[in-house]
Amino acid sequence: MRSAMSFAAMALAAGAIAAPTSTIAKRQLSFVDIPTGYLQGFKNPTVQSSAGGQAICISGMVDVTASANNIQIKLPDPTNQTEVSERIAEFLQVNSTLGQQALGGPNPVNGTFGIYSQLCFPAATGTINATTIEFLIHGAGLDRTYWNTAPGYSYVDYAAQQGYTTFFYDRLGWGLSDHPDGTQIVQLPLQVEIAHELIQLLRTGGIANQTFEYVVGVGHSFGSSQTNRLTALHPDDLDAAVLTGFSTDNSGMAAGFAGFGLSIASQINPLRFSDRSNSYLTGPNIEGTQQFFFRWPGFDVAVLDIAEETKAGITWGEFFVNGQSVASNFTGPVDVVNGEFDLPNCHGNCLIPSNKLTTVKDAYYPAASNFSWYIGPDAGHALNLHYAAPGAYEHIHNFLRTHGL
Ligand SMILES: *[C@@H]1O[C@H](CO)[C@@H](O)[C@H](O)[C@H]1NC(C)=O
Ligand SMILES: *[C@@H]1O[C@H](CO)[C@@H](O)[C@H](O)[C@H]1NC(C)=O
Ligand SMILES: *[C@@H]1O[C@H](CO)[C@@H](O)[C@H](O)[C@H]1NC(C)=O
Ligand SMILES: *[C@@H]1O[C@H](CO)[C@@H](O)[C@H](O)[C@H]1NC(C)=O
Ligand SMILES: *[C@@H]1O[C@H](CO)[C@@H](O)[C@H](O)[C@H]1NC(C)=O
Ligand SMILES: *[C@@H]1O[C@H](CO)[C@@H](O)[C@H](O)[C@H]1NC(C)=O
Ligand SMILES: *[C@@H]1O[C@H](CO)[C@@H](O)[C@H](O)[C@H]1NC(C)=O
Repeated sequence: MRSAMSFAAMALAAGAIAAPTSTIAKRQLSFVDIPTGYLQGFKNPTVQSSAGGQAICISGMVDVTASANNIQIKLPDPTNQTEVSERIAEFLQVNSTLGQQALGGPNPVNGTFGIYSQLCFPAATGTINATTIEFLIHGAGLDRTYWNTAPGYSYVDYAAQQGYTTFFYDRLGWGLSDHPDGTQIVQLPLQVEIAHELIQLLRTGGIANQTFEYVVGVGHSFGSSQTNRLTALHPDDLDAAVLTGFSTDNSGMAAGFAGFGLSIASQINPLRFSDRSNSYLTGPNIEGTQQFFFRWPGFDVAVLDIAEETKAGITWGEFFVNGQSVASNFTGPVDVVNGEFDLPNCHGNCLIPSNKLTTVKDAYYPAASNFSWYIGPDAGHALNLHYAAPGAYEHIHNFLRTHGL
């Protein structure tokens, strides 16, 4: 599979028109074969095959109305790169108080936001099984393509092979979704309420005309923080939570950000981010991307190239408003999955001084019905982009079956 990486695969991952890659997908890759109900909820829907051709994907904007208690950010938006680099240096200094200085009181926000979404179902059957849907939330620095990057590197393909339908989207601010003010609006609390509203749509027939019975949340990194907060605030939304790139040790985050080199996105990459305000930040080079997300020799450099091509970032508001929550009322099963050498979320080693995944249960999930964990060998933070990914996917789907999902 790995040797099948090709230029076409990269174009696909970069969002170019998807060429059907399997005969099954080819046969079904047309609107006429897809029940009209499946397109429900998507504005101007398009149909593609997934990276490896195992799934048929419906893609388009979904309008989501949500409100949340954001936090008022007291620091002004950076006017130039000198200020961004200075703030990061202040953030990294000994006993920094910048994080506290930045935060004001609650700031209620609301609105209707265009969220670019994809729903992918098994090509082999050409139908959606409404028993279970996997609800995938990407992290910072990457967009929705994290879940469907290239042939052999696609959570979506693996899930489809196992009969599962997946729903994933560009979080507010990133990819093809709306990108309002990145300081006061694009923050964790609003992102969590948007996820909550999307799940209500999935459960009540608002998307694809399906009333999904079970919703399994799968997060990565900052997306896991959001999945975690969702289980804390809306404990009935998810029937199980899978947290990847998530542990009880975030002390490597400083080293991660030191290497990533946050930069004003519209200046560093105007081709992709010219329409973003200065509150949108990204990394300037592939070296920082590798250091934050990858671990050699556990990956193919062609996949690192794709990550660099599709790299997203973090907003000023997301940078300051984050953290984990104790989900004391969540009673579903919880699974934690990490790359062994995750820098930001395990400080570079998930087993030193001791296992930092097993501690998630006591720290954040006292009422979980069941708890399990998995460490992908020789992988860094972006586990899906490493050779260890298929082992992690297999573990996660075994976890789902074990719990009847
Ligand atoms: C939606 O699903 C219902 C029940 O399965 C079906 O009767 C209806 O025709 C579907 N709507 C569309 C637009 O396909
Ligand atoms: C950035 O803005 C500050 C004022 O906030 C100014 O002193 C500094 O010279 C500016 N840097 C550049 C490179 O223009
Ligand atoms: C940092 O703060 C802690 C208490 O929060 C204090 O014990 C420690 O001495 C401080 N370190 C320095 C270098 O000031
Ligand atoms: C939405 O926010 C506006 C202020 O921007 C406020 O006037 C309005 O009451 C809010 N609406 C809801 C439903 O919270
Ligand atoms: C849908 O999935 C559930 C759980 O795996 C399974 O029991 C059921 O038979 C499936 N339904 C169809 C129509 O394949
Ligand atoms: C958990 O549920 C109980 C009973 O509904 C409620 O009183 C409590 O506030 C909830 N705790 C949290 C942290 O949401
Ligand atoms: C978790 O579930 C598995 C499979 O059902 C079971 O064997 C195990 O005992 C459970 N563990 C706990 C702590 O409940």
